[in-house]
Amino acid sequence: MTRGIFIAFEGGEGAGKSTQSSALADHLAARGHVVTRTREPGGTPAAEAIRSVLLDPANAGLDDRAEALLFAAARGEHVARVIRPALERGDIVVCDRFMDSSVAYQGIARGLGRERVADLSLWATGGLRPDLAVLLDVDPALGLARLEGPDRLEAEPVEWHQRVREGFRQIAADDPDRYLVLDASRPVEDLAIEIAARVDELLGDP
Ligand code: TYD
Repeated sequence: MTRGIFIAFEGGEGAGKSTQSSALADHLAARGHVVTRTREPGGTPAAEAIRSVLLDPANAGLDDRAEALLFAAARGEHVARVIRPALERGDIVVCDRFMDSSVAYQGIARGLGRERVADLSLWATGGLRPDLAVLLDVDPALGLARLEGPDRLEAEPVEWHQRVREGFRQIAADDPDRYLVLDASRPVEDLAIEIAARVDELLGDP
């Protein structure tokens, strides 16, 4: 049993997840909530080490299944050491990316299978899912143009990132109660206001 609330930000490259999750964390802290803000892959020393392996362009051609397992391993460690303890304390956890990144990137874009990758993540985390996921939806041509020095995954062709985008949209459409889908090309402040309003409603704190 957990007492806190778990909010994940999802979306493609350059969608503005970290800007929005930071704005939400500030908003919640200003309302007196205790917030744990974190990100995937990463969040603990071991998970950050796995992140380096996953993003290093020197590992181009990493086996798809090995990639899926490494993301799941990093998530298992992150949930066990950071996210679950924070939720048990009653914190609001705000995380950049969570299991639906694995489902969209590895399950759908890599073609490993949506169900299989979701099950792998649920196994790794003891069944943890976010209470709310915010999908910042952006055209990959736009998002990728905002980045500099692509890492191993960002270096995939734009058509591949298009599959990731479609994957996220499908996942969100299949779970509308858990997802807030926003057009990430809208002004940053407008997006922040809409996200804060949805989270305040979730917290019963309008
Ligand atoms: P991230 O640090 O969020 O990159 P960015 O800030 O550029 O969005 O994530 C690193 C990369 O890892 C990103 O390309 C998405 C990818 N990823 C997966 O493929 N599967 C996963 O489960 C996660 C968490 C991330």
